[in-house]
Amino acid sequence: MERLQKLIAESGYCSRRKAEELIINGDVRVDGVIIKELGAKFSKEAKIEIKGKTLKLEQKEYYLLNKPREYICSLSDEKGRKIVTDLIATKARIYPVGRLDYDTTGLLILTNDGELSNILMHPSSKVEKTYIAKIEGILSSEELNNLKRGIIIDGIKCRPNHVKVRKRDKVKNNDLVEVTIEEGRNHIVKRLFKELNHEVEKLTRIRYGFLELDGLKSGDYRILTNSEVRKLYSYKKISKK
Ligand code: URA
Repeated sequence: MERLQKLIAESGYCSRRKAEELIINGDVRVDGVIIKELGAKFSKEAKIEIKGKTLKLEQKEYYLLNKPREYICSLSDEKGRKIVTDLIATKARIYPVGRLDYDTTGLLILTNDGELSNILMHPSSKVEKTYIAKIEGILSSEELNNLKRGIIIDGIKCRPNHVKVRKRDKVKNNDLVEVTIEEGRNHIVKRLFKELNHEVEKLTRIRYGFLELDGLKSGDYRILTNSEVRKLYSYKKISKK
């Protein structure tokens, strides 16, 4: 038995919050009866109708995409920019788990599984994400140490789990820096370097938890295996510790 708003959100129809609004508005019937109570629980077999239309339970789908530049992590864009879901051949209402910036490339998970998405995005899940940043200028050893010790952004310290200068080009005056962080604030890697007065020229995510790109070409994707999905769900257990 599950809460009604959870069943609706899991179907991919809308978010849990939107489902709560629909329930309160009296737009939802279960087995023919209007349900306005948010705590009500039903089985997955119940017939759920929203505004008179029967809800179809969508199969869960899970993808790992190597996001190219100039794609936006959103379901639509008022500026008409390309969106990441355009790259995946499915009719399911998938969406990205978290965001990569328009000009950031690399590993992105997309799914229509709201429960998994919530687990992964919850700060307590502590999913490690590894990025390679090509930065303008060379990091001094003091700056590198500051980065390793952590940098305060908007009053909250962001302390990378791991930092390494992968390549230094003194002629072109840039560093390639690998940074592993758990948190998911918007533009966090760019902001870390901005605090050190270095612009990020290119940014790629190469790892998300235990998942890596493994040679997947830019713009290509693959379906996650059942065992990978189970492993991603296990971040929930970590979060309860
Ligand atoms: N940090 C950023 O600055 N940008 C991203 O896209 C992801 C992490």
